[in-house]
Amino acid sequence: MTQLYLNHITKLIAGQPLFTTDQLTAQTGDRVGIVGANGAGKTTLAKIITGTDRDFTGQRQLNAPVVRVPQIAPTQGQSGGQSMLARVRQALAQRPEILILDEPSANLDDRHQAWLSQALGHFDGLLLLISHDRDLLQRVATKLWVVDQGCFTQYNGTFAAYQTAKQQRDANEMTQYQNQQNDRRKLQLAAQKKREKAHRVRKGNRKMSAAERSNSRTLREQNAGRLERNAHDLAERAAQQVTTTKPHTTAGIKLVATDLPPVTGKYLVNVTDLTLKRGKHQLLTRASLRIRPGERVALTGPNGSGKSTLLDALLAHHAQTHLAASARIGYFYQDMTALPADQTVWQVMSRATTLDADRTRQVMGAFGLDAKFYDRLVGDLSGGEQVKLQLLSILVSASNLLLLDEPTNYLDLPALQALADYLVGYPGTVLFVAHDQTFRQQVATRTVQLTDHQLVDPQRTAQGVPASDLPRLRFEYDRLMLDPTADTAKIRALREKIAVIQRENG
Ligand SMILES: Nc1ncnc2c1ncn2[C@@H]1O[C@H](COP(=O)(O)OP(=O)(O)OP(=O)(O)O)[C@@H](O)[C@H]1O
Ligand SMILES: [Mg+2]
Repeated sequence: MTQLYLNHITKLIAGQPLFTTDQLTAQTGDRVGIVGANGAGKTTLAKIITGTDRDFTGQRQLNAPVVRVPQIAPTQGQSGGQSMLARVRQALAQRPEILILDEPSANLDDRHQAWLSQALGHFDGLLLLISHDRDLLQRVATKLWVVDQGCFTQYNGTFAAYQTAKQQRDANEMTQYQNQQNDRRKLQLAAQKKREKAHRVRKGNRKMSAAERSNSRTLREQNAGRLERNAHDLAERAAQQVTTTKPHTTAGIKLVATDLPPVTGKYLVNVTDLTLKRGKHQLLTRASLRIRPGERVALTGPNGSGKSTLLDALLAHHAQTHLAASARIGYFYQDMTALPADQTVWQVMSRATTLDADRTRQVMGAFGLDAKFYDRLVGDLSGGEQVKLQLLSILVSASNLLLLDEPTNYLDLPALQALADYLVGYPGTVLFVAHDQTFRQQVATRTVQLTDHQLVDPQRTAQGVPASDLPRLRFEYDRLMLDPTADTAKIRALREKIAVIQRENG
């Protein structure tokens, strides 16, 4: 039975179109994945469906009551993951005919993620699942509503099938575009040659006598004219050649690391015999952890095992933790309520930044917050945009030790990649918690697991330098090359190290 029908919905914000929709329909038993970039309008569409947002044009038909679990809610002392789980459980228990979940897997550990995808797989109403989580989408969604360049369209297939189809389509468009560009260049070149020839014919041969020149003038003029008409035709054809516009590509931006306060000492972080409790829960028992400057450590462990509490202890300079005197902490904790809702994006950034305005804009742009966001109020931002802003305000501050607690939630793929690139190129030290495994593998030089109240390194025996270190080494190499006092042996060693990694990784 058709439960939901949307037809050519158009949503304007401040007079500008945010999105339109094709005909979208969903039946009982459908599990619709709603996917698209941060700020594309997914949460707004959900509000239109529930009737919270009535400011739109087009047809909306709803045949059953809806329950919506929103993206962001106050956490009331629970961890982010626990709070989301509680809200999802509560919603499922109501057995709604239509259920909308907005980013339900944020902050969940592997075990709870598995629970979630199973629970959703058994849901027998109509499920609308807004998510950036590739694994969850693949496991749960039976079809998709994809918002791309301002339009929601329906795709009948799984997320993986959609991705393959999209890659194929993008590649085809790019090939077609490039072929057309090549043809156009060839035609332009041919036209140019004809024009040059016409010019030579008109001028005549230098060795001609005055009489010959005068006799052949009409003929030469005729030939030149013909060549010029040919050239004109070719140029016309060249102009008609390009029928497709340049395919839209999302820019992958490489960031250069900024000047950071220098670090002295062998360890930046030194934790010894740390015991932590929360209420009656024992979290750590005489645990130890040492982090060297330049390391990027992923902290893993189940929900509620104490990862955030450990970061808090470092931040609070707990007696059993020691930070190098030169350490300047940049701390990210996903608490949306920490941002001032009534300030503009640019106000927040200019208060936080230690970079000049140009660099600040550049870093913001890499994460998709470009000029059109500067005057926007924080309270109007989408979930992902708020995360970006909070992250950016930390990345542009002069810190050499980043403590990042779940920075990947709500981020779309380009932003996730921009963050990974930034961290891999970052010359400071990072201790981070992220449930996204791909992200961890990309960024971490080392993993520390919180198990049995201890901090253990499961890959203690791992040898060699991971490929993810390459950008950092290249950065160091470039820096030394520019430094006239740098030790040449050191430069050579670094160059060899880079070559080895490149060889090992093809
Ligand atoms: N008053 C406003 N003026 C300008 N832009 C606005 C205003 N209110 C909302 N927006 C913008 O509308 C867009 C839609 O937001 P929405 O929350 O629907 O996105 P989303 O797809 O859910 O994104 P996310 O994946 O980050 O959750 C955002 O870019 C937001 O900044
Ligand atoms: Mg949203």
